[in-house]
Amino acid sequence: MKLRVHLKENSYSIHIKKGILNAVSSFCLSYSKILLVTDSGVPKQYIDIVKKEIPHCLLFTLKKGEKNKNMQSANAILHQLFINNFDRHDLILAIGGGVVLDLCAFVASIYKRGMHYGSIPTTVLAQVDSCIGGKNGINYDSFKNGVGTFYHPKFVLIDPLVLDTLPKRHWNNGLIEALKMGLIHDKNLFDLIATKNIKKNIQSIIFHSLKNKIDIIEQDVHDIGIRQILNYGHTLGHAIESYCNFKVLHGEAVAYGMVLETKQNEIKEQLLQIYKKIHLKKIKPIPLTLLKPYIMQDKKRVHQSIIIPQINQIGSCQLVEISMNVFFKQMGDEIHE
Ligand SMILES: NC(=O)c1ccc[n+]([C@@H]2O[C@H](COP(=O)([O-])OP(=O)(O)OC[C@H]3O[C@@H](n4cnc5c(N)ncnc54)[C@H](O)[C@@H]3O)[C@@H](O)[C@H]2O)c1
Repeated sequence: MKLRVHLKENSYSIHIKKGILNAVSSFCLSYSKILLVTDSGVPKQYIDIVKKEIPHCLLFTLKKGEKNKNMQSANAILHQLFINNFDRHDLILAIGGGVVLDLCAFVASIYKRGMHYGSIPTTVLAQVDSCIGGKNGINYDSFKNGVGTFYHPKFVLIDPLVLDTLPKRHWNNGLIEALKMGLIHDKNLFDLIATKNIKKNIQSIIFHSLKNKIDIIEQDVHDIGIRQILNYGHTLGHAIESYCNFKVLHGEAVAYGMVLETKQNEIKEQLLQIYKKIHLKKIKPIPLTLLKPYIMQDKKRVHQSIIIPQINQIGSCQLVEISMNVFFKQMGDEIHE
């Protein structure tokens, strides 16, 4: 399966195929220097396959985890690039989850004002969502994605087989982004996740999630219009993640953000049913007052207003601008389980 993101000179292809890890070299033929970046949580067996494919690559392994998606890790990658004399036409190849991909895309975008970047996402979240779109970000203190750029890969290689080793909690983490995509833009995708066996249908879930995202980002790559619908559930989600010091996973936080940001009770109910079906980890209630400082830092806030997506029905939504006061009122006093 192949998808193409059409962004003029920044266009690129996404290749989705079981076992594609064993064909990485065919996508790297034009690169004599490659920095392969991963983290300590990505199983060694996948790194070994890639190293065998491209023996001339230099491997750099970061410490795993969201708390390492920061300037120190970005600096550590930059250091590798400088001491090994990489130039702008060499490749930084990220293999890992959204943390590694965000860090590598960010570094690739700033190293000598932009070097070549490719990615091999290995978590559900990275495969269904974060590997495309061009947004990257690192956390600044406790502010989620406080620093980042827009930058596009040269290619994305998705091997669904690598998900075999991914813990269940991380499967759910990624599925929430796919579910969000279904909720805002594609009823069939929503129904697929709601009713079918997830593992058996993962390739289709990945394909349709990315296809929908491409449709949206091709219309608004710089996130100034329609693309903001992708933020559904994220205003509260990001605040919960920051407040909990990233001990809650992105998808878990967004899942509860989606329920709270949804007005229709019957849709809320359907979401909760799906969370039950996949055994999503629950979040303890957090008073809204504690989340407010983080919500006020939200990039979507414009003075005293915020632009948020509102669901019309499953598969369709629109952007609305509401005052922060109204937003807080709609959320109620507490973030519930
Ligand atoms: N740039 C974007 O558009 C975008 C979109 C959504 C989320 N994100 C970001 O993505 C990040 C979350 O990404 P994530 O959920 O992939 O987390 P992650 O990158 O931390 O990966 C989760 C854990 O799984 C391990 N892992 C990776 N692949 C594995 C595999 N195949 N088998 C077993 N373990 C594996 C990792 O080492 C890590 O410990 C957040 O920082 C979020 O902000 C970015």
